[in-house]
Amino acid sequence: MRILAIETSCDDTCVALVRARERSGRKMPCFLILSNVVSSQTKIHEEYGGVVPSLAKRAHQENLLPVLKEALRKAGMSEVKKPKVDLIAVTYGPGLEPALWTGVNFARALSYWWEIPLLGVDHMEGHIAANFLPQKIDGITNYSPRSREGGAGQLSITKFPAICLAVSGGHTQLILVKDILRYKLLGETVDDAAGEGFDKVARLLGLGFPGGPEIAKAAKGGDPKAFAFPRPMAHSNDYNFSFSGLKTAVLYGVKKKLGIEMNAKINESDLKKISKNLRRDVAASFQQAVVDVLVKKTIRAAKEYNAETIMLAGGVAANQELREQLGAVIKKELPYTVYKIPHTSLATDNAAMIAAAAYFHRDKASLTRYKTLKASGNLKIH
Ligand code: KG4
Ligand code: ZN
Repeated sequence: MRILAIETSCDDTCVALVRARERSGRKMPCFLILSNVVSSQTKIHEEYGGVVPSLAKRAHQENLLPVLKEALRKAGMSEVKKPKVDLIAVTYGPGLEPALWTGVNFARALSYWWEIPLLGVDHMEGHIAANFLPQKIDGITNYSPRSREGGAGQLSITKFPAICLAVSGGHTQLILVKDILRYKLLGETVDDAAGEGFDKVARLLGLGFPGGPEIAKAAKGGDPKAFAFPRPMAHSNDYNFSFSGLKTAVLYGVKKKLGIEMNAKINESDLKKISKNLRRDVAASFQQAVVDVLVKKTIRAAKEYNAETIMLAGGVAANQELREQLGAVIKKELPYTVYKIPHTSLATDNAAMIAAAAYFHRDKASLTRYKTLKASGNLKIH
């Protein structure tokens, strides 16, 4: 079956065409990405240091049609005729509601006009499903070198129950995946999401947006032990997280180094005083603190729930240190557990992952859904 998927939950306008080939006797099909177009709005939101919902909505409205056309063209389909697809899938939550509505309304119109069944997809389920998409994209296989060596085998098929660490700009969740489509939320952040932490610390250091890749780049060659930042809630008796205090600790650490009063604001001229070395050490120490907490809790959950597989999901899953360090600990402490990570290009928002999640819900797609489908900003995985 062929799926056309649309994703506009945050600041990327995404359209993909994915083919799912069923394999007899297996729940997991073979997914083939025919096209996966992502139009980033980074330039628009950069100066605000975060995503501005009203600007995101406007940009999605402008971009959706050209992105759809490009996705159809790349998949070898006509841009004018009704495409040969069996299902239209669209992210309906969680996310920024004005942004979500643009994708939902666009998909409703297409479903009505082309008479193709429509289905709403949970964005976080999409991130999880990125693990089921191909690992080789544009000739690049993105296994982290350390985990490829053995033990935690990337190539293995997903076995259940699985523990998924879903870390994005809006979410930090530990999810027990009992089977395909059967989830239990074990814990989540009580304040900032991990990705949000990366974005805020990047801003504090005068780095660009989104902050995750910028921090990762800046941290290269830095000393992860230079600053003894806290590991919030690393030992708490639950699976919740907290990253807001860590961000404050970074702020105080930088102020102390620069000789700025603790209650004074850091201004533009202070930012110029941050040397490359200082930035490198702060970035590396911050990144290490986040990775330590995420790895510790994921491993604990995997042990408690006898997970057969550990998966990473969400934009922060593109972080190489997280990918490698989690892989190394799994190899040492849980050598028989399968370790799955999405291809780096599929960790951050894209529509191919929405198509993959849609496949498992295909029975719920309908020709009349266009009348009722609504965006739901606070949707929770269930
Ligand atoms: O899943 P995603 O693309 O969008 C949301 O659903 O939020 O995640 C975006 C988040 C941003 O906060 C971004 O800074 C973070 O993922 N991110 C990273 C990396 N690449 C993206 N964080 C750490 N390291 C990275 N390499
Ligand atoms: Zn996302």
